[in-house]
Amino acid sequence: MKIAKVLNPWDRYALMSLVAATSCAGGSLLERGTHLAWASACADPGSGVTILAAEDDGYLGVAVLSPKRKGCSVRLESLYVVRPARGRGVGSALVREAIKLHPHLQLACSPDLKAYYQRLGFVKWRAAMACTDLIGGTTKKAHRGYVAIAPTREHFMDCMERLEAMDGWMEAFSD
Ligand SMILES: CC(C)(COP(=O)(O)OP(=O)(O)OC[C@H]1O[C@@H](n2cnc3c(N)ncnc32)[C@H](O)[C@@H]1OP(=O)(O)O)[C@@H](O)C(=O)NCCC(=O)NCCS
Repeated sequence: MKIAKVLNPWDRYALMSLVAATSCAGGSLLERGTHLAWASACADPGSGVTILAAEDDGYLGVAVLSPKRKGCSVRLESLYVVRPARGRGVGSALVREAIKLHPHLQLACSPDLKAYYQRLGFVKWRAAMACTDLIGGTTKKAHRGYVAIAPTREHFMDCMERLEAMDGWMEAFSD
């Protein structure tokens, strides 16, 4: 398994679109549009680092980090491993690489994943403000504010238009 940063914005866009398609297969137009818009925001220059885990026959998983800004922490915004590769240490390898890049790393997760992240070094925890998620940090400093990757209206509209066009095209050509 190889772990690498995805530096080229177009590669990032392609990869995150693939992740959106894989993780959201069968979802509603709105769900798929939201994921694609986020993928598109991840490709913008200045968005955070994307880390890829891959093998010869394809991608295994990705970790997306929020942008680094002075005085702010970096958040592990997304961690995703394709189903057939789960339980093989791919997620752990991605998280370890993320911590290597940003020792003061934070994340938000559901309580059932707390033990998983705790084993990987997220030792400082607090409750999130507006939901049942927990905020984890590798250090106390990791709990500072962070700059989220946020799709704009333009990202969103562009993705919805493309999805609608794709659905129309598929309908036109189905039996
Ligand atoms: C969570 C996820 C990233 C783990 O990736 P992975 O490559 O399978 O994880 P690893 O192989 O490194 O670790 C496996 C361990 O994590 C545990 N684990 C995995 N998913 C878990 C979950 N949802 N709740 C609790 N434990 C979980 C496994 O039980 C296993 O424990 P063990 O080592 O004691 O057997 C992967 O299941 C995934 O992509 N899930 C869907 C997206 C998601 O939930 N992302 C996290 C959002 S915060």
